[in-house]
Amino acid sequence: MQKHNEHSESEKESAVKSVLWAGRLEEKPSEIAFKFQASIKVDKRFVLEDIAGSRAHVVMLGKEGIIPPDAAEKIDQELGKIADEIKSGLLSVDESFEDIHSFIESLLTERLGDLGRMVHAGRSRNDQVALDFRLYLKHAVSDMEEAIIHALKTLLDLAEKHLESIMPGYTHLQRAQCVTLAHHLVAWASALNRDLGRFRDALCRMDESPLGSGALAGSSLPLNRGLTASVLGFSRPTLNSMDSVSDRDFALELAAACAITQTHLSRFCEDIVIWSSEEFKFIDLAEAWSTGSSIMPQKKNPDFAELVRAKAGRTAGNFMTLLMILKGLPYAYGKDLQEDKEALFDSLDTAQSCLGIFAGMIQSAHWNTERMESACIGGFLEATDVAEYLVQKGLPFRKAHETAAFIVRDCIAAGERSVTERSLDQLKARSDLFEQDIYERLLPLNCVKARNLSGGPAPQEVQRQIKVLRSAL
Ligand code: ARG
Repeated sequence: MQKHNEHSESEKESAVKSVLWAGRLEEKPSEIAFKFQASIKVDKRFVLEDIAGSRAHVVMLGKEGIIPPDAAEKIDQELGKIADEIKSGLLSVDESFEDIHSFIESLLTERLGDLGRMVHAGRSRNDQVALDFRLYLKHAVSDMEEAIIHALKTLLDLAEKHLESIMPGYTHLQRAQCVTLAHHLVAWASALNRDLGRFRDALCRMDESPLGSGALAGSSLPLNRGLTASVLGFSRPTLNSMDSVSDRDFALELAAACAITQTHLSRFCEDIVIWSSEEFKFIDLAEAWSTGSSIMPQKKNPDFAELVRAKAGRTAGNFMTLLMILKGLPYAYGKDLQEDKEALFDSLDTAQSCLGIFAGMIQSAHWNTERMESACIGGFLEATDVAEYLVQKGLPFRKAHETAAFIVRDCIAAGERSVTERSLDQLKARSDLFEQDIYERLLPLNCVKARNLSGGPAPQEVQRQIKVLRSAL
C-alpha cells in the first residue's frame, strides 16, 4: 500500500503536517494544540465526497475560464485517480493532516505541483465542509431509509401472519381491551413510517449546494454556482453565502429524526422486554438473540432489546449537543461547528444499527399466541363491549357504562372471571336489553372483529392498514 508520507525532514520532526494557513503564522502550531483542533479522524468519513466536491469545483473553474481548461482537466483526472485508489484500498487517508480537505489538496499538489495549488480558488474550507457534510448525509440518509424500510417490512410481514392472534391491549400497563398482535405491530410500523417521512423531509430541505459561498462572503471570481450545484446533484445553490456556512439545520433535523426513531425503538423494545418476562411470556426470543447469565444458569436475558432501549439516551444527547453548539454562535462560521459531525455520525450509526437489531430480534422470535389469547380472559376486557352492546340496543352510553360496571362488580363478588360467566337472567336483572346473542358477541375474537372501523383492530381493517403502509414504501 502506497503511504502518503513523503514529507520534508523538518515536517517529520515536528510531526505537524504543513497546514493550509501556514503563510500567515511564522510559528508552527504546537503538536498538542494541532492535534486538539485537527478533525481528520472524524471528517475522513467523507473523503470521497470531498473529492467529488473538488472535481465539480475544478471543472467549473475550467469552464468559466478561471483556470486554464487543460489544467482543470488534469486536476479532475488526478482527483478521479485518487478516488479510485482510495476505493481500492491502494491509498489510505493520512491522519496526521489537519483535516480531509488539507489531505486531498496536499496530495494533489504533491502529485501535480502548481496545478494542485489552483484547486482552492474561490473556495474556503467553510463552504467545502458544509458541502461535504451534505453530500455524505445524502448517502447516509438513504442507508437509514433502507434500514427503516427493512424493519417496517419485517413488522408488516409478521403482522400479516397474526391478523387473528388475539392479545390484550394495554393502557397504564393494565389490560384494557382485546386487540390483535397484528394491530400492535402495525402501531409500531406506523411510528417507523413517520420516521421515514422525517428523514425524507429533511433531505428535501438539505437539497441545496453551499459551494461558492467561500468563507462567508462569496468570491469576486466569476464562479458558476448553478453549475456545481447541478453537477453534484443538488436542486439549486443556497440563497445566502453567510447562511450557507453557518447553517447546520440539516444536521439538527437529522439528529432529531434519529433521536425520535431511537425513542420509538426504545418503546418497542420495552414492550419486548416486558413480553419476554416469565410473568407475560408473550414472546420467546431466539437463543441467538438472547444472552445468558454468568451466575444464574437458568437465565435467558433480552440484552439486545435492553441495549436498543438504552441507546435512546445517546441519540437524545447528540441532538442536545448539536443544539448547544449552535446556541448563541455568532454569524457566520465558528470552529465550534466542527463538533457537529461526531454527534450526528454517532446518532446515524446508532439508529441504523439498532433498526437492524430490532428487525432481526422480532423476525427470529417465537410469539406465544396461546398465552396472549388466554391473557384476554379474566381482566374483564369485554366490559367496554358490554356497554357498546347496550348502546346499540338504545341505552344512553353513560347508563350503559354504569350497567357494565355493575355487572363487573357482580362478577368480582361472585368470583367470576368474565361477564360471560353470568346467566342471562342475572344479566337481565341489570338490563332487560340483554339477549342470548351477548355470549357470542363477547368472544374475544368477536370483540375485535366488531371494532372494524378505520384504525381499528378488526383483521380486515388491519389488513387494510398494512396495505396502506406497504404502498407508502
Ligand atoms: N474541520 C472544519 C469543520 O469541520 C473545516 C472548516 C475549517 N474552517 C476554518 N476556518 N478553520 O468545520
